Amino acid sequence: MSLPCRVQLTALVITIAVPFSFRILSGAAAQTAELSSPVSIPDDPTADRFVEGLMSRMTLSEKLGQMTQIAVNGPSDGVSFEDHIRKGEVGSFQSTTDPERISHLQHIAVEQSRLHIPLSFAFDVIHGLRTVYPIPLALAASWDPALVEHTQEMAAREASAVGINWTFAPMLDIARDPRWGRIMEGAGEDPYLGSRMAEAQVRGFQGDHIGAPHHLLACLKHFAGYGAAAGGRDYEESNISDEQLENVYLPPFHAGVKAGAGSLMSGYMDLNGVPGTGNHWLLHDVLRERWHFAGFVVSDWESVENLTTHGFASDPEEAAVRAVNAGLDMEMVSHLYRDQLPAALKDGKIKQSTIDQAVRNILLIKYRLGLFEHPYVDLAEIPRQLVTPEQRETARTVATRTAVLLRNQDSLLPLNKQIHSIAVIGPLADSKPDTMGSWSLAGHYDDTVTVLEGLRRRFPTGVTINFSKGVEISRDLPLSIFDDQFQSPKPTLTTDAARQAEFRHAISLVEQSEVAVLVLGERQDMSGERASRSSLTLPGQQQELLEAAIATGKPVVLVLLNGRPLDITWASEHVPAILEVWYPGTEGGNAVADLLFGDAVPGGHLPLAWPRTVGQIPINYARNVTQIPEDPDHRYWDSSSLPLYPFGYGLSYTSFTISKLKLNTTSARAGSSFAISVDVTNTGKLAGDEVVQLYTHQRAGSASRPIRELKGFQRVRLGPGETRTVTLTLDTNELSFWSPQTHQRSIEPGTFDLWVGADANAAMHSSFTITD
Ligand code: BGC
Repeated sequence: MSLPCRVQLTALVITIAVPFSFRILSGAAAQTAELSSPVSIPDDPTADRFVEGLMSRMTLSEKLGQMTQIAVNGPSDGVSFEDHIRKGEVGSFQSTTDPERISHLQHIAVEQSRLHIPLSFAFDVIHGLRTVYPIPLALAASWDPALVEHTQEMAAREASAVGINWTFAPMLDIARDPRWGRIMEGAGEDPYLGSRMAEAQVRGFQGDHIGAPHHLLACLKHFAGYGAAAGGRDYEESNISDEQLENVYLPPFHAGVKAGAGSLMSGYMDLNGVPGTGNHWLLHDVLRERWHFAGFVVSDWESVENLTTHGFASDPEEAAVRAVNAGLDMEMVSHLYRDQLPAALKDGKIKQSTIDQAVRNILLIKYRLGLFEHPYVDLAEIPRQLVTPEQRETARTVATRTAVLLRNQDSLLPLNKQIHSIAVIGPLADSKPDTMGSWSLAGHYDDTVTVLEGLRRRFPTGVTINFSKGVEISRDLPLSIFDDQFQSPKPTLTTDAARQAEFRHAISLVEQSEVAVLVLGERQDMSGERASRSSLTLPGQQQELLEAAIATGKPVVLVLLNGRPLDITWASEHVPAILEVWYPGTEGGNAVADLLFGDAVPGGHLPLAWPRTVGQIPINYARNVTQIPEDPDHRYWDSSSLPLYPFGYGLSYTSFTISKLKLNTTSARAGSSFAISVDVTNTGKLAGDEVVQLYTHQRAGSASRPIRELKGFQRVRLGPGETRTVTLTLDTNELSFWSPQTHQRSIEPGTFDLWVGADANAAMHSSFTITD
């Protein structure tokens, strides 16, 4: 893995003046992005003929070239990119967002290589390109697949404008350990929510077919089990039982394949002792034989070469052979395919047909992307596509709809607009990188609105806004490579005296102001790849700052910017209002101002159970309960074994009741669907959103069944006093599970409990049976 080489990412070179729009989309307007129906990769005889014709003219070296992806900022072998392209030795580039560069390289490929095969250009468009959207974990907290689809479609529009045609997203790794830094990049702990987010993102990136204009090829990653890294340490091995793999970790990938994703990335890690990149069972048996995946598979960064590091392959040649024989079509960054496979072919270690199949998989997708017809980026169009008012509006709306209100004692929020003074305190309150979050490599700080700026824009006059960062978050360890890559503000308080003075200043500002907004959490480089933590506490002296602010007796709102749940047990008892906004992106500060003053009403819900302490991990809600069932929540001597906030939890500025649970049948045949309805009433004084959630539990099966599993949800917006009947359809296929006894996935007939409510503790109960 050569991350150090990647730190100098080429930034977008285009700078344009963008008129800023203050128009705020209402939640209802944001919901107008319709869900399109699932797509799958269709058979296309014309594409097949074209590709077969092309392949009949390709040399071995040209074929291996198509199976090779170079990183513009990756290691160089001394030969220029241009020469490699001219000779047909490279099929794909990654990590540049510079349209001139993309255009230059593509012209060489199409005009100067023997067979004129266009390159594909990939980038990690994870939560936006130049316009940065909230992180994927936040997107999952919206519980709004239509919104998520629309967000990724907007991201695709910007990225495709600069010539990128392939994103390394969505990340579908289920994660149940918040120590793992990449938990921010996925949809949290639940396979059902994760699958809906997978489909929405694939549709958003790809549109209704691969090659849809202004869209990107999606890449499902990291296949599979990367989220279960031992100890939450990034890149560590994952040891996952067959039962958990089949029922928890694989389903989002299957959903992404069914939604028509055209590519998939193997995981770095060992899965039960076999690396993802050399895992024939995963890449062939599951992906091709079972799921009929019709796209191509790319490795992760140098993960073919790293098969030797795993103690899996004895040398580079064996690494290349085992990867390609496992079903790994394209190698990322390392170039063992190009260097090692010719000899391996000659020696009979691989078959020509294996290489041909990999090339076919890759070229078919290039064809479907329309690259042979339209290889070039339209440079003249680009300025019109970046950080447009529409992009900004979407980013602002999405940041409001992904926020989760965790506490709101005595309705402190929304704040009174007639306020005269606000203290805005905290190391993240005016930090642009920390507002953008990890995987915002092509974002510009200048575009980004911090919380402090958002509040200042909202109250240009009449309200005194007192700002102090109070404390800084610094890292005690030696400099990491990420200290270069991400530019969280460098500490400026270099002496104890300076630190104490800033702390006291912050608290005096709290004392002088009517209300204090503390913006705390994690720096962006504490969350993401290679950013695992061994603790979940508020880093640095933020906890002391929070306690001192509360000790003033002033009303305090805690706004959290972070990529994982943090240990806020103290805050949950002492801080009256807590608003989780994750890393909210380019428009984060404006969105937070909207939320604090009630122009937007929080309606997000947690996509994971929020632990009290790091010691409770894993604390996911869908677990099997054994022994002493009447007291399953006291499993620790020194703590509750309940999470601080359950999966699915989230408050609003208004209140809701959910009543009148009705099932249109209590006995359904396996494979059928039936309707479950409830009445949702907004019992408060403001319009707001509720997320209606459906959980089931099978009372007995060939294997133990989890106490609850999410099987449906819908986010609804209701005006004050409004009641709506919400109908959820339960597809009984969702009740199927892979049994470690039968080694099969099936719907096992029997009796099921069912609950509907607003989080995983939903109390309204019914039951039904499934018959053969
Ligand atoms: C990450 C991938 C990413 C790739 C390319 C790797 O280190 O694990 O998720 O897509 O780099 O940037």
